[in-house]
Amino acid sequence: MTLNIILLGPPGAGKGTQAARLEDEHGMVQLSTGDMLRAAVKAGTPIGVQAKAVMDAGELVSDDIVSGLIGERLDQLGAETSVIFDGYPRTAAQADALDTILSDRGRQLDHVIELLVEEDALVDRITGRFSCGTCGAGYHDRYKLPKVADTCDQCGGHDFKRRPDDNEETVRTRMAEYRAKTAPILPIYDARGIVTRVDGMAPIDQVNDAIEAVLTPAG
Ligand code: AP5
Repeated sequence: MTLNIILLGPPGAGKGTQAARLEDEHGMVQLSTGDMLRAAVKAGTPIGVQAKAVMDAGELVSDDIVSGLIGERLDQLGAETSVIFDGYPRTAAQADALDTILSDRGRQLDHVIELLVEEDALVDRITGRFSCGTCGAGYHDRYKLPKVADTCDQCGGHDFKRRPDDNEETVRTRMAEYRAKTAPILPIYDARGIVTRVDGMAPIDQVNDAIEAVLTPAG
């Protein structure tokens, strides 16, 4: 069965971490607008040039740009591919656009999983985050270190990097954007009865178990 799910939560809630697990365990594909925008910045495309300053400030990139990226990426996937929307939608206009994007492609939204977290813990999570510069595997200074120091568990690489927007000031702006523009879209999905709330403060494996229970209910 093809699934289309949204992982929703503030910066550092664990969306990317859990999306990667679902990719590994279910062959689903993570569609992260943040990753797509960072790739555009790195490649120096017109979208990347436009997005860079906005992202560095912790503000939101325009709705048209991110919805365009999502539509393009979905078109590259087979109709049977299950997808995880990570960091999209983030505004009411994006939620509307996603409905159209999905229905135009014969897809429907199955689940919205909201990761519930305490904001104070998020600054700590984000400022401690780093990733492998070769394969992108994610780590944390305290919660998820590579098994062998300075060596990526997945690809053996030794080059690690930190995101330019992962500093405390920008994180506070990103959280304010989430509260003002993203949290208000939850009632749209609540009204459809497709939201499940998961404790995002639990250890990574337990959060994964709770999401698994939503995707593959017993019985
Ligand atoms: P984006 O890349 O989407 O960033 P974000 O939403 O701020 O989310 P993060 O990637 O910071 O956090 P996450 O929830 O994925 O947490 P993670 O799993 O890494 O967006 C960046 C920017 O791009 C935006 O600010 C905006 O400018 C732009 N943008 C993107 N999409 C847009 C859109 N749709 N519209 C407009 N603009 C857009 O976890 C964080 C850390 O915590 C990791 O180190 C991890 O190991 C650790 N961790 C995770 N789970 C746990 C746990 N349960 N316990 C302990 N540690 C944990």
